[in-house]
Amino acid sequence: MSPFTDPGRLVGELVAELPQWLPTQRWFAGKDRPVTAVRPLEVTHLLDGDPLLLHVIVEVVQGDRREPYQLLVGQRSHPPEIASSSWIGTDFYEASGDADLTALLLDKIVAEEVTGALSFAHEPGVRLSGGLRARPITSEQSNTSLVYGGQYILKLFRKLSPGTNKDLLLHRALQAAGCEHIARVVGSITGELAGEPATIGMMQVFLSDAVDGWAMATTSVRDLMADPEMHPDEVGGDFAGEAERLGLAVAKVHADLASALSTEPVDEGELDRTAQAMADRLEQVAAVVPELAAHRPELRAAFEAVRERPAGSPPISMQYVHGDLHLGQVLRTVGGWLLLDFEGEPAAPVEERHALRSPLRDVAGMLRSFDYAAQQLLIGQPEDPVLTARALEWARRNRAAFCEGYARGAAASIGDPREHGALLRAFELDKAVYEVAYEHANRPDWLAVPLAAIARITHGGE
Ligand SMILES: Nc1ncnc2c1ncn2[C@@H]1O[C@H](COP(=O)(O)OP(=O)(O)O)[C@@H](O)[C@H]1O
Ligand SMILES: [Mg+2]
Repeated sequence: MSPFTDPGRLVGELVAELPQWLPTQRWFAGKDRPVTAVRPLEVTHLLDGDPLLLHVIVEVVQGDRREPYQLLVGQRSHPPEIASSSWIGTDFYEASGDADLTALLLDKIVAEEVTGALSFAHEPGVRLSGGLRARPITSEQSNTSLVYGGQYILKLFRKLSPGTNKDLLLHRALQAAGCEHIARVVGSITGELAGEPATIGMMQVFLSDAVDGWAMATTSVRDLMADPEMHPDEVGGDFAGEAERLGLAVAKVHADLASALSTEPVDEGELDRTAQAMADRLEQVAAVVPELAAHRPELRAAFEAVRERPAGSPPISMQYVHGDLHLGQVLRTVGGWLLLDFEGEPAAPVEERHALRSPLRDVAGMLRSFDYAAQQLLIGQPEDPVLTARALEWARRNRAAFCEGYARGAAASIGDPREHGALLRAFELDKAVYEVAYEHANRPDWLAVPLAAIARITHGGE
């Protein structure tokens, strides 16, 4: 038993503190509404005594919304130095930053232990080394990932849902298909939710030599801006070769997902529903952001065009896709590009994330990301026509290279994304409308980026 309290009382204090503490955490997805109550669903003792380590699944109540989240809770008489934001109460803390305690998770995966409702496992045929200490990864993210000795990365999914997490499901399917564009899954942790198994964690090989796509792309843009006399194809940091290889990698992942998992032909009803969903989002956002209202007629026409498939347009089918693809979700390793984080849009409900979708949505996500990478250095700067023109050139060049690469690797059912002109355009515009809502709420300085893109795309400038 802990030197401070008994675990039962600790859980009581924990759920009393969580309504104030959760909204301070980057990974908490419910920041839009106050937390009305937090209830314990499942408590697993990973270490008893001093130190005490509990794995806790709680239900977070926000009005009529109820969502389960997981936490590691630590209490010890000599706590290590941990971030002040990790303290939940005066003598207990969120323990994912406590390397003395988190070492246990890897060791349990190695030994395939079952502790209470938690099952730790490695993937069949995988041999892992235990005894490694972990550091949490510090980049902004929606889950919490721990890197063990620079060898493995364990992602603890914060918001839970019953069943196999889509990230794990798709990684396993891609691995079975022999896909080279993912980091190998080596282990997992499964818990229980509503009497059903639920993925708690996923462990992958950590690529210590990797650079993320956003960092590479923005470095290339910076090189270009440093010498405004030069064009993107003339500077040393040209990214087009990488963008093309990235397109090829994304196409291969899509093709492998289509062959490994289910696909569905797209019927007219589906196109109608897609067009309707886009129009609905537009109305919602335009009601809040006046600047968007000016583009309403053109946007409505672009979304309406999705319903009419001209005769002779290439067939499209729906399949499992990444769902939240952008330059920050891809890694360049010495061996090539890898795609990460197949969970889908963090804000979307789980049924929506699992829905089969057109792969063009992922393509559109990446095309938008090239625009963001090109524009981000200009945010908050005085207007400079030369730099603005260079940024547009950079984006155009790399977007085209990406599509070129994609077309080379695409399954026959998808082909060249540019041949699905109206649909790809609509997906891009829909994404930009989403960005308008996001920037309006979070980063008003950036609002100009999606708005300018909407103006360009609807006037045929893309
Ligand atoms: N296998 C890996 N090797 C190296 N870095 C990784 C690996 N997996 C994830 N990362 C890093 O961790 C970050 C967060 O991972 P991600 O799966 O996107 O988590 P989240 O769901 O929290 O967004 C990535 O942006 C990347 O920088
Ligand atoms: Mg991510």
